Amino acid sequence: MSIADDPDRAPARSHLYAMGLSEEEMRRPVVGIASTWTGTMPCNLNHRDLAAQVAEGVRAAGGLPMEFNTIAVSDNLTMHTPGMRTSLISREVIADSIELMGRAHGFDALVAIVGCDKTVPAAIMALARLDVPSVVLYSGSMLPGRWRGKDVTIQDMWEALGEREVGRMDQADLDDLAKHACPGAGTCAAQYTANTMGTVADFLGLAPFGVGDIPATVPDKEAAARRVGEIAMRALAADARPSKVLTADALHNAIVSVAAMGGSTNAVLHLLAIAREAGLPLEIDRIGEICRQVPIITGLKPSGGDGTALDLWRAGGTALVVRRLLEAGLLRENVTLVDGRSLADVAADARETPGQTVVAGADRPFKPRGALAILRGSLAPGGCVLKLGGKDDFRHEGPARVFDSEADCYTAIQQGQIVAGDVIVVRYEGPAGGPGMREMLSITGPLVGRGLGSSVALVTDGRFSGVSHGLVIGHVAPEAYHGGPIALVRDGDAIVIDSAAGTLDLLVPEEELAARRAAWQRPDRPVERGVLTKYVATVASASDGAVTA
Ligand code: FES
Repeated sequence: MSIADDPDRAPARSHLYAMGLSEEEMRRPVVGIASTWTGTMPCNLNHRDLAAQVAEGVRAAGGLPMEFNTIAVSDNLTMHTPGMRTSLISREVIADSIELMGRAHGFDALVAIVGCDKTVPAAIMALARLDVPSVVLYSGSMLPGRWRGKDVTIQDMWEALGEREVGRMDQADLDDLAKHACPGAGTCAAQYTANTMGTVADFLGLAPFGVGDIPATVPDKEAAARRVGEIAMRALAADARPSKVLTADALHNAIVSVAAMGGSTNAVLHLLAIAREAGLPLEIDRIGEICRQVPIITGLKPSGGDGTALDLWRAGGTALVVRRLLEAGLLRENVTLVDGRSLADVAADARETPGQTVVAGADRPFKPRGALAILRGSLAPGGCVLKLGGKDDFRHEGPARVFDSEADCYTAIQQGQIVAGDVIVVRYEGPAGGPGMREMLSITGPLVGRGLGSSVALVTDGRFSGVSHGLVIGHVAPEAYHGGPIALVRDGDAIVIDSAAGTLDLLVPEEELAARRAAWQRPDRPVERGVLTKYVATVASASDGAVTA
């Protein structure tokens, strides 16, 4: 019975009258519109405008839209600050807040407007929990900036820091680049974490193909958002719930998309978390297997080439990627897409720009295999993630340079203490140890800028920005905070990375390791308060998606 017709809900009706609603409107199906707008970053700056358009679409299709907001944390703005510890934690808070609003108000359907990295998996996790007909609207990438005749993105900013350190760029040029690298609203402008996860939402079937890859500031975006409101009403009529859409086959396709587009290492964490929320079995090694089998077919930064998200959209977008992957037999077609189309329909609808050079066939890929690999070994018995960047398999053996925090490591790099061949180990940066599993872009960017990106390896129980590249291994499990082998490494120990064998090993005799283990004590650190305390108490291993539920 609707609020309009339930005699006992007169008090609730009084508040809806106060909002200007009529009884006719109160009888309509209610579509919650979750926006992750905050005024603290460009990534989600267009969400309020998009929410208004979605609401128009819902109204036009006979529904009653109700908008609400969540928090969001910018990775770029918090990078290399204590605030970065909040970034991954925000995924849980956003998921919980959408879930709570859904449970509180009993929405008949939901639209989640997402952009910056964590907001995408967070919304999907919440929608899986609520399991009402749902649509994800990815708010779109930023356009690339233009500086001295070339396209630039936030990746150039971070690498420019390293170039300044070695004298290849002065502060005036760095400041000038900062004024041009990010020209307006939208998410980081290539296949970094946000765009990777936006594509995941498409391939999971929860976001309509062709909407997410319209850049944030292109006028077509608003019309597309209005269509999303209408799609939500159709999804409600068709009872297209996440439990029907987000299936094992859809999850497989999403992993394929990450591999084929050279996606971010953060996708591993988020896919594991989404799978757990959806009740689907997924082990970290399965992601590695798919990445080994699927080539990179998009020439996008940072792993496939130099293209930006704008280039992908102009070439034909993710629909064109679907066409190429279907041609190669790499997708499972028995899936339900929220807009009612099939993958074959999406491929047929794709409009390829003649002469485009961004999306290739799987028979002539940009790189022979996906950008990620999952390693195990004596240093990471619970698994870890290697960012291959589409490189060929390699073996790297070098002496450990151990740091108990990202900040100490950053200082050592700045002082020129890291040399070719080293294996940097940054620990106590895991989900519980950080806490919050910070991204290490302030290390990887300067390493690349100093020309050490391919000769120095970085091993951490923290994680990486989608922008990061180089010989980087993150998500090492068990983490140092829980006494994993990474806690036992000492300066000078030999570490071997073998991507072909899928191993990460610490070459220290077992008797010596046993002695170190017996003597190990978790380092003292200031007592956490508030949300950080709750997080440390509940967060799971990175190999389980660092979930808290
Ligand atoms: Fe928000 Fe990159 S920091 S998308």
